[in-house]
Amino acid sequence: MQIRKNKIYIGDVPVSAIAEKYGTPTYVYDENKIRENYRRALNAFSKYYPDFRFFYAVKACNNPAIVNILRQEGAGIDAASVNEILLAKSVGLSGEDVMFSGNFLSDDDIRRGLKSGVIFNLDDPSTLPRVLKFGKPKILSFRVNPGYGKSNVGEFVTNAGPNAKFGVHPDQVMDAYRAAKKAGIKRFGAHMMPGSCITEPEYFTFITNLMMDIIGKVGRELKIHFEFIDLGGGLGIPYRPGEQGLDIEEAAKQVSAAFRAKVRQYGLKPPRLMMEPARYFVGNAAWIVGKVHSVKRSYKKIIGTDIGMNTLARPAMYGAYHHIYVDGKENAKREKVGLCGQLCENTDFWVKERNLPASIKEGDIVVVENAGAYGFAMSYQYNGRLRPAEVLVNGKNHFLIRRREEFEDMIRNTTVPGYLKK
Ligand code: LLP
Repeated sequence: MQIRKNKIYIGDVPVSAIAEKYGTPTYVYDENKIRENYRRALNAFSKYYPDFRFFYAVKACNNPAIVNILRQEGAGIDAASVNEILLAKSVGLSGEDVMFSGNFLSDDDIRRGLKSGVIFNLDDPSTLPRVLKFGKPKILSFRVNPGYGKSNVGEFVTNAGPNAKFGVHPDQVMDAYRAAKKAGIKRFGAHMMPGSCITEPEYFTFITNLMMDIIGKVGRELKIHFEFIDLGGGLGIPYRPGEQGLDIEEAAKQVSAAFRAKVRQYGLKPPRLMMEPARYFVGNAAWIVGKVHSVKRSYKKIIGTDIGMNTLARPAMYGAYHHIYVDGKENAKREKVGLCGQLCENTDFWVKERNLPASIKEGDIVVVENAGAYGFAMSYQYNGRLRPAEVLVNGKNHFLIRRREEFEDMIRNTTVPGYLKK
């Protein structure tokens, strides 16, 4: 995003042109930014550890156009469900390019996951006998909960440690792999996902050491060769103006050094190093373009827009901060106002107080930053306010990559029993 002569552009497209052509609210992705993010991270990690690969966690943004960009860049896919495996397949990725990291899987998940031939990453040792009832995955890993997790988004997004629902307790990891080996599984990996949105390189080094001390012993004692060790996602981005971003070069350097040292310490054959980020690739590469529909002066001055907690759930769900720009008014005098969406819920009053241009008025275009990860993917229908459109910008070109939902989409899966129609 750039401000040129006081007008906001995404790529080389003015947001006013997007609003006019596609309506509001609309998620707008900058293809070049996604590619830049991916290449910066890949270059850093593969420079220090050449046998390195990223699997993109599609849960953060599952639009097939975006997934194809990351596939073109060389990413595999981290899938949380069978439908995400099918999504990977729809963009041409399958087998060992896809890792199935679901949790609390149903028998149906297991059966369909096995049929797809992807890497199985089990969240709990009790799932193994259930998997074996249906077949043997070609490659198996366990998701380790190394006892420590962290997130700059807050406790809600901390995915490991004693309060997390995820992963295998360190004391159970040895037995889990022993059972898998005994059952005839031949190829192994290991996985963890302890946190999300971390901007301190030292965190990644810390968790690498934690993980390797658990996995190293397993490799040594059971004589298992780990083909890959996946350190999860979590590469963070700054959300607030002035906040420090992650020094990816430093993270890569520290992680690789720690990883190599532990591989040596435990006498392991060097595994492939993997990570499965999402936010780092797509987070800062999308904006929501919305419109001001009314300015209310009641107990407070409240700016009513078409961007609500249904469009972007993160602020209402986690108290997350997203910066807001007003097209054409970024240089204007500011005052403290509130900002909300159109839902009949007060959590939809998602900015209680923010310094925004004092002259903001009906028809103005607002742009919400850092909306690419867990943005559209967590949007929902409520109050008959349906899901927004998604647009991809490449330089001065723009493409509709998901149409806005309409009334038919709201009732699409419903049926009314005949007697109720009388
Ligand atoms: N791998 C697994 C198994 C995951 O569960 C996740 C995210 C990732 C990778 C990607 O993590 P990332 O690189 O994006 O940090 N809705 C929250 C974030 C929840 C994270 C869920 N898991 C938010 O909006 O901040």
